[in-house]
Amino acid sequence: MPHIKVKPFNLDTIESSSQLTNIIKFRAKGDDELLGIEYKGEEFLINIKQDSHNNMVIKYDKVSRPLNVELVKDVIALIADALDLDIISSNIYSNANAHTLPSQYLKKIKDFENIEFGDKKVALEVGFGSGKHILYQANCNRDKLYIGIEIHTPSATQLLKQIKIQELDNIWVVNYDARLLLEMLPSNALEEIFVHFPVPWDKKPHRRVISKSFLEESIRVLKPSHRLELRTDSDKYFWYSLETFFDYPKISVDVIKNRDLEVVSKYEARWRRQNKDIYDVLVTSDELSSDIDRDFNFTFNNINFDIPLKDKLPKESQIFDGYFIHFERSYYIDNGLLIKIAFGSFDRPEHKYILIENNIVRYISSSPVSTSTNYKAHQKLEEYFNV
Ligand SMILES: C[S@@+](CC[C@H](N)C(=O)[O-])C[C@H]1O[C@@H](n2cnc3c(N)ncnc32)[C@H](O)[C@@H]1O
Repeated sequence: MPHIKVKPFNLDTIESSSQLTNIIKFRAKGDDELLGIEYKGEEFLINIKQDSHNNMVIKYDKVSRPLNVELVKDVIALIADALDLDIISSNIYSNANAHTLPSQYLKKIKDFENIEFGDKKVALEVGFGSGKHILYQANCNRDKLYIGIEIHTPSATQLLKQIKIQELDNIWVVNYDARLLLEMLPSNALEEIFVHFPVPWDKKPHRRVISKSFLEESIRVLKPSHRLELRTDSDKYFWYSLETFFDYPKISVDVIKNRDLEVVSKYEARWRRQNKDIYDVLVTSDELSSDIDRDFNFTFNNINFDIPLKDKLPKESQIFDGYFIHFERSYYIDNGLLIKIAFGSFDRPEHKYILIENNIVRYISSSPVSTSTNYKAHQKLEEYFNV
């Protein structure tokens, strides 16, 4: 995570620096401080916090991070330079090769809003890790588009490098939480969904990729007679998934033990050396699914409030029918507030900042992922801001 540690400095000098006025749009003050940045066409936040030795840590904010983390590093370096800060430690000048490659095959979650694939054959791999399987599939089926979604940025970067080396043009890489993507895809569009060796999350089952809603969405986006392929070495995950699948009507479920695939990932090879059993659970959708509404508008209308709105927002999580809203933290800015919130469905929460400035309310950097649950939460948020 890009950051620098510097000797204590007066934060007010940020506002008097002429070099920074073009990129710093607001200061948000709370227990720590956030800077609203606009840089090279991207909007994100930089966090400044005091550590236990009274030094200051300037770091990137995970929730608002841009796809290209290099931009964050640039801005931290610009701030250090403009304010002539006394740097104690830094990791922003290292790792020159580790950043995400700019590539036409790297897609943002926003690129999937209202996407249609037409006649194109499309498959999805969730959590591709080293990318060995998706690369193999893409090489074998050059006429099919493989969408790989992976939450771990270095793995996404690694796959983009391989796409370039192997001169492939049929893989899209998405560096995001897979649980949010499916709801954005059209019905009856995919030929396969691969979920190979998902993290078992035995202690935090709500973080598992496979869930009732993931299955429902998989069935909706799969073409009839096409399948979701779960491969796992975890007994617990296997039984958990079977139970989830058996609860669902109108699907066929097949189980195969220790099936050989044409390609073995590093992860799988480790279990094989230990003679561990590997289970495939193949779920086939039997019916054509109906289309769903995917065109949601996340702008805030009907806003009417006065500061101090902050005191009126509930401190506890608010649970509604199928979704929740949690106002995590608020910061004061000139003429408004910046609010950090978590909301949406329980097993796929969204984390966002909402900026309220001069009576205009908007999400920082981008709207939530376009799902019906997020939209319901958005409508409820409008009610909170219309007081
Ligand atoms: C155990 S590894 C398996 C990797 C690869 N599929 C294989 O067979 O070697 C699980 C992968 O899933 C990714 N992952 C975990 N949760 C995810 C999520 N919610 N969305 C996307 N990827 C996720 C992890 O980053 C990790 O790379």
